[in-house]
Amino acid sequence: MKNLVILISGRGSNLRALLEAGLPARAAAVISDRPGAAGLDIARSHGVPAGVLDYREYASREAFDAALAGEIDRHTPDLVLLAGFMRVLSDAFVRRYEGRMLNIHPSLLPAFPGLHTHRRALQAGVRIHGCTVHFVTAALDSGPIVIQAAVPVLDGDDEDVLAARVLAQEHRIYPQAARWFLEGRLSLVPEGIVRVAGSAPQVNALLVPEVDAARALQDA
Ligand code: GRF
Repeated sequence: MKNLVILISGRGSNLRALLEAGLPARAAAVISDRPGAAGLDIARSHGVPAGVLDYREYASREAFDAALAGEIDRHTPDLVLLAGFMRVLSDAFVRRYEGRMLNIHPSLLPAFPGLHTHRRALQAGVRIHGCTVHFVTAALDSGPIVIQAAVPVLDGDDEDVLAARVLAQEHRIYPQAARWFLEGRLSLVPEGIVRVAGSAPQVNALLVPEVDAARALQDA
């Protein structure tokens, strides 16, 4: 059985989706960098050992990351999943788990890396927004992309409404990406592009707003 280690900082809804997806792996540990993270209770209620490594108790990023790596490695993980883990990681940490660490980000990367993605999407007036699962590399939110889900941005959306629409898709694509990894179906081709063995091509398009059907036919 393969081992997963899942890192969180807060609410833990992606953690829950991962734990309830029936992945072909054992969730060996959940680690939070913040003591009050609600996700800790979610882990425990699923029978998964959950612990805290409080980043405020470490003098530097490197010191924290070294302690975190020591904790992670006790569980010999095949895959490390960042599930709302709100820390910039040191290069050494990223290198250590290169090719076996995934992150979920609430935007269609490479648009809107970093924080406040839904607010920035609304400010930019994009019509289509979404989320991305990617391998973690040294550059923030820019590793090879495994899967993305797109949602419409609708008139009248505020940050919370848009965030909830995206989050529902996060809960679909993160377990899917983890499953592909565990099944050995992900490979990296040169230039950092991910291939998913046996995945079905998607040919439908999300148009927002929808084009006028009769008019589109006339123009064709
Ligand atoms: C999610 O939107 C995730 O994409 C981002 O942080 C949020 C964490 O939410 N990285 P949760 O803790 O999984 O509920």
